[in-house]
Amino acid sequence: MIVYLNGEYMPAEDAKISPLDRGFLFGDGIYEVTPSYGGRMVGFELHLQRMKNGLSEIGITPPSYSDEEWRELALNLSEKNGGQNLGLYFQVSRGNEGRRFHGFPKDTPPTVFGMAIAVDSHPAVPDRTTVKGLRVLSTQDLRWQRCNIKSTALLGNVLHFQQGFSAGRDETIMFNANNELTEASSSNVFIVKDGVVSTPLLDHQKLPGISRHITIESLRENGTIPVEERVVTMDEVRNADEVWITNSSKHIAPVVQVDGDLVGDGTVGPVWERVMTLYEEAKYDF
Ligand code: PDD
Repeated sequence: MIVYLNGEYMPAEDAKISPLDRGFLFGDGIYEVTPSYGGRMVGFELHLQRMKNGLSEIGITPPSYSDEEWRELALNLSEKNGGQNLGLYFQVSRGNEGRRFHGFPKDTPPTVFGMAIAVDSHPAVPDRTTVKGLRVLSTQDLRWQRCNIKSTALLGNVLHFQQGFSAGRDETIMFNANNELTEASSSNVFIVKDGVVSTPLLDHQKLPGISRHITIESLRENGTIPVEERVVTMDEVRNADEVWITNSSKHIAPVVQVDGDLVGDGTVGPVWERVMTLYEEAKYDF
């Protein structure tokens, strides 16, 4: 894999970062993953804007790249890595001031790293009879209070993912202390009941997912399936006709089991097929 580090492209094995980098010591950084298929990116501007928002939120001075330079960088990474189905990953850390000290350094340039991760492709015509339905675990969300920031400090997410993974599940969905749905360890969550699509409102407990945004906007644009952003309770998840998770590599993935209980009749639902079709039709418009 060819990666990007602070202005240069190189094989991943040649990329060297100091152990004193705050990304390594503290997880003090922001990251993004933009899906790209054959060099066509999905939602690049939205991803870039979320990265800038995150950097500003935690007070990292962004590298002085223009939007056009970021785009070029992303396209270069795609091209240098075969240009097929990729997640284009960027990470900006607060850099290395040569010591371990919690306070923000002054005049220390951020460390900018980029790589391209292979992701699955998605059939242009989704088929609910052949797609794999996911099985998820549910648990209480024990992460920090600022999950709206796409921080590289992912220990909370990693531990929650592992809870599900070590139990043979594909993802872990989470509820806050009031039994309200937040999100999953690396994705947002939607439910469908009686033809209405619902997803939790955005706040500090959830990442404002770009795939979530594309899903909602595709539904609104189409207008035939109602979509609501509101509090979604644990009971509603347990009684839903369909459950989906969304992220940049899966887009919209159907869930067929929660904690071993079937979602609906345990098969992938018709609303998933419809919305995934809309998503595939619209994804390059974002
Ligand atoms: N994860 N919530 C969390 C906690 C996430 O980590 C992600 C994405 C999402 C969905 O965001 P988006 O639709 O913008 O990808 C929601 C990425 C893919 C990752 O960490 O690999």
